[in-house]
Amino acid sequence: MTSRPEANPRRVLIVSSHPLFREGLRSLLQERRPGIEAIGLATSTDEALAALDRLAPDLVIVDHDDAAVNREEFLARFVEGERAMRVMLVSLKEADRAVVYDRHTLTASQIEDWLGGLAATARGAPLSAPQTSRRVEMKHFAIVGVLVIVATVAVNAGLNAVGLMPVEASEQARVIDRLFSLHVTVISFLFSLIVVFLLYSVVVFRRKPGDTSDGDHFEGHTGLEVAWTLGPLALVMLFAGLGAQALADTRRPEPNAYVVKVVASQWSWSFEYPDSGVTSTSLNLPVNRQVVLQLTSQDVIHSFWVPEFRVKQDALPGDKLVKELRLTPTLIGQYKVRCAELCGRQHAYMEAPVVVMSQADFDAWITKESAISNDPVARGKKWAAQYGCTACHSIDGTKIVGPTWKGLYGHEVALADGTTATADDAYLRESIVDPTARVVQGFAPNIMPQTFKDRLQDQQISDMIEYIKTLK
Ligand code: CUA
Repeated sequence: MTSRPEANPRRVLIVSSHPLFREGLRSLLQERRPGIEAIGLATSTDEALAALDRLAPDLVIVDHDDAAVNREEFLARFVEGERAMRVMLVSLKEADRAVVYDRHTLTASQIEDWLGGLAATARGAPLSAPQTSRRVEMKHFAIVGVLVIVATVAVNAGLNAVGLMPVEASEQARVIDRLFSLHVTVISFLFSLIVVFLLYSVVVFRRKPGDTSDGDHFEGHTGLEVAWTLGPLALVMLFAGLGAQALADTRRPEPNAYVVKVVASQWSWSFEYPDSGVTSTSLNLPVNRQVVLQLTSQDVIHSFWVPEFRVKQDALPGDKLVKELRLTPTLIGQYKVRCAELCGRQHAYMEAPVVVMSQADFDAWITKESAISNDPVARGKKWAAQYGCTACHSIDGTKIVGPTWKGLYGHEVALADGTTATADDAYLRESIVDPTARVVQGFAPNIMPQTFKDRLQDQQISDMIEYIKTLK
């Protein structure tokens, strides 16, 4: 608001034909501003001119309302002329206001501030914020502080109400959600801090009509800089500590944890239960018991992810690179494993069901599955259904898309090239892994997918052949 002097004005010449103005101002300066000395009093323009050469003042204060003093001439000769010096025109007509020469209207307290700044520079001390403006500043900070708190609470509540997270279905999810919600709170606070300060400044410190002055110039503020360096540093270190703690919590082994081997491949999941020899395409888990998943991949990198459990772990190719993931389901229900690593064309559809059940249901499921698992024919039947084989190959003699499996094993097959083959183990295996090698007469040559070579394990193919053998 004010144009503060650059030099040190301590010697002041007062120009007015009114003794009240002259003496009043002099005693005011004497009383209130010991740094400023009224070295001369002039009653007219001519007297001021003469005094100027004699006294060489730093500042001339001119009575703005004095008819005996031609202020236009004053401005022309002292401000704009070759003597260019500091002149302050002061009008005291209004009881609580003064007008200085550049037409800024100052309130009484602003004049106090202005003179305060003048006195401070006069003593060669750094400019200190005057008492009144400090009080005003504190008021602004108090308002902004309250607004920041209110905005933080509101933004935090808003973000929580959006419900960004899926249901919390594991012990690990609790740990991660706690950390996440702390992050959201800090984010709400930082957002509010910036936006409230910004909007408050835009509204409250808006330029007043007619005000063309520059804002205050600040070189820096050491306290503020130290605070905004150490504050975030402390916060980041706190979160590093909390993050490490959360990581440790999600990996803490429990003594009764049991093992499930997870095999990822393009583009399916398979789950093995070593305790019982069960293999499944769905991940069945008992509730409230920790499971250790041992993940591997048969081809590229995949990533095991059940959003409701929060935790995620890559599955890497190579038998030696077994990755472990511990999780403790806490909520009975059906979920889905997703692959969280871009792994090829069908990546987006690489899903498998996850079923969390009671311990009793789980035991029953294991018993049922292991009965199947110990019988190659039952297993083969299961694979045939699971991999969609029986959608094209009937087991009752009906001709669908491909040859029926009924009565196939051991019989002569007429091939498209006019030769014949015996449907033995070798022929069936070849037909599964390389279906274009020997196509049966009367069937389209390229209709069967050529992906089973990658999707099926040797054991699964053998199981299916055992199953086909039984379809007499
Ligand atoms: Cu496997 Cu993406």
